[in-house]
Amino acid sequence: MTRIYRISPECLDEDALEDAAEAIRKGELVTFPTETVYGLGANGLDSRAVRRIFAAKGRPGDNPLILHVESIEKAREIARVDARAEALFRRYSPGPLTLVLPARNHVPPETRGGLATVGVRIPDSSIALELIRRSGVPIAAPSANSSGRPSPTDVATVLEDLGEFVAVALDGGPTRVGLESTVLDVSASEPVLLRPGGITLEELREFLGEVRLSEEMEELRRSPGTRYRHYAPHIPLYLWNPREGDSLFLSLESPEGRIGYMGIAEPPRNVGERILFSDLSHYARELYRILRYFEEAGLSCIVAELPEKGALGRALRDRLERAAGEGKEKSL
Ligand code: TXA
Ligand code: MG
Repeated sequence: MTRIYRISPECLDEDALEDAAEAIRKGELVTFPTETVYGLGANGLDSRAVRRIFAAKGRPGDNPLILHVESIEKAREIARVDARAEALFRRYSPGPLTLVLPARNHVPPETRGGLATVGVRIPDSSIALELIRRSGVPIAAPSANSSGRPSPTDVATVLEDLGEFVAVALDGGPTRVGLESTVLDVSASEPVLLRPGGITLEELREFLGEVRLSEEMEELRRSPGTRYRHYAPHIPLYLWNPREGDSLFLSLESPEGRIGYMGIAEPPRNVGERILFSDLSHYARELYRILRYFEEAGLSCIVAELPEKGALGRALRDRLERAAGEGKEKSL
């Protein structure tokens, strides 16, 4: 049975945090909020605990985990942090940025998916930071969904997917960002954006100069996670570019009343259910929840607006295109 604690970031519940930290130290799994999505955490230096994460999620063993730490000093204990990486941490952490860095030898191969590098992130959540501090170890945590499902932005969704595996759940309410962190590889001379997220490519380029895109480099092997189709809804998902008018809507076979639409722009035709967002960050925050909702609502297809590439739009497009199954070799 999962021990579930409702916990507020303003007034941290000592007993809840202590129970969760104790579970981490014992090699059990704990779900906790970050600013992006909920994580499924375990002691990242204990290969048995890490294997439990992979088993619970049904995750391929070659897809490495992110280690969550509370400070740059702790990052140094698990990875080589050079001057550029330190500057990035100072500028963007705590926050939705994961740096891929050369790993120290004691980071188990299970955590790194067999790579020589490790992803390191300092999350911007007082609950997460306090849990890491009390555990006394770096916490390996992927998003707390079954492999192939949308990332969870609340505890109820985590428990729906993974309840039987979770010893302790820290419920800090819905997460603020809603999309997973930006993953930036700075283990070699040229920085490479492996996954777009809350810290945008434009910001990173302003700070670092040139940043390359993994998709342009055909180096998908460097970020194993990006090779997999992440989320395949059980009903078709179509991406709509408002600049293309209503042709997509006209071509759909589903009757109007059975279409679920989400986006910022008004849909050009009647639909069964429509969810309108006020801006890109609202879209990002709600995307995964609405995907799950539409799927359960008995609709026959989903149409989602495809935003333009700038800023958060790039991260949203990445997740939407992956969910629609575009250009991925493998589905999970
Ligand atoms: O916002 C987030 O990053 C959330 C919260 C819980 O922190 N975590 C998360 O973890 O999204 P996960 O496992 O769902 O996604 C991690 C991504 C994967 O695409 C993985 O392949 C990539 O980061 N990654 C991790 N370590 C890597 C490494 N050493 N080299 C290349 N890519 C790596
Ligand atoms: Mg994930």
